[in-house]
Amino acid sequence: MTSKLIMLASLPQGVPQAANFITGFEELPDVEPGEVLLKTLFISVDPYLRAKMAGEHQPPLNAGDVMYSRAVAEVVATKSPDLQPGDKVMAFLEWRDYLIHNSESLTLLPNNGFPLSNHLSILGSTGLSAYFALTDIGKPKAGETLVVSGAAGAVGSIAGQIGKLMGCKVIGIAGSDEKLQWLQADLGFDGVINYKTTPDIAAAIANLCPDGVDIYFDNVGGAISDAVIGKMNNYGRVVVCGSIASYNDTSAATGPRLLPLVVYKQLLIQGFLITDYKTRFAEGIAQLQQWLAAGKLQYAETIMNGFDKLPEAFIGLFNGDNQGKMIVKT
Ligand SMILES: NC(=O)c1ccc[n+]([C@@H]2O[C@H](COP(=O)([O-])OP(=O)(O)OC[C@H]3O[C@@H](n4cnc5c(N)ncnc54)[C@H](OP(=O)(O)O)[C@@H]3O)[C@@H](O)[C@H]2O)c1
Repeated sequence: MTSKLIMLASLPQGVPQAANFITGFEELPDVEPGEVLLKTLFISVDPYLRAKMAGEHQPPLNAGDVMYSRAVAEVVATKSPDLQPGDKVMAFLEWRDYLIHNSESLTLLPNNGFPLSNHLSILGSTGLSAYFALTDIGKPKAGETLVVSGAAGAVGSIAGQIGKLMGCKVIGIAGSDEKLQWLQADLGFDGVINYKTTPDIAAAIANLCPDGVDIYFDNVGGAISDAVIGKMNNYGRVVVCGSIASYNDTSAATGPRLLPLVVYKQLLIQGFLITDYKTRFAEGIAQLQQWLAAGKLQYAETIMNGFDKLPEAFIGLFNGDNQGKMIVKT
């Protein structure tokens, strides 16, 4: 059987381009004992893949590597006693339409009534990142003010809603008026800022947060974060989840030196990595499922159709093409 695959042809300089990817074909060997033949169904595209291409997120992605990310797949044929044809599984999988995989490192997905794509979004690493990063590092208390950057994305849209569930006033920063409308009208954010059309973000934060900012959930870094951190209250907490604004930088950006502010305001700035929380995934999924079932949490998925759309979907993350989680249905 032939497997179609997508490889990184060259490392991007700046924003990734379609030419950085190449499609290939490979004959698959026979399925050996302990292995399964998988057909991928949904593949997640994520900003951290760009950081891997820059060697910042380990292990790095190099030219010539087959791309890989979290994916949901169906077992087509099996020589493993643990999996049956038709079973749905999740793992970090290469970007291939069909592939052979050993069964041990696959997570069998429950048939729990939630759409399969949810395992890559609200019930997957982005929903879990929002939950653990906000509750463990942000430690929100009722009445506090939370600002979320990248607010209409997969992590940000959930982090903001969890902040509302914890009684915070929530301000979201995102890149289009359509996204701002969704955040306010549907997700219940208290205030919103379009960073692309707001010349003075610090003034906009001051206007929307007259009592200052207690928690900043940072998905983007760069100038947006400089503006928000400048408005933090004493003992404020900065949850550093991601820095997408600098992932395509070709030279180190400079900005205001924030460390004196960190001293005088006694701020806590802590980085977060979801991989640290593997042992608590079941707890996080149970909480997210409970909120979903109670109608307290909403999510969006931007699903592009077709295996060949993987590079376009990935590049689209840097243009703001997604509302909620960007996923490719293969
Ligand atoms: N630490 C962890 O374990 C962990 C886990 C998951 C994700 N993350 C990080 O969290 C962040 C969000 O990830 P996600 O999966 O939820 O992605 P996402 O927010 O769903 O998608 C990326 C969004 O970033 C915004 N963006 C792109 N370029 C930007 C720029 N230069 N300045 C400001 N915003 C920009 C775009 O929205 P706009 O239209 O608003 O520009 C885009 O839709 C990323 O930085 C990611 O690396 C970290």
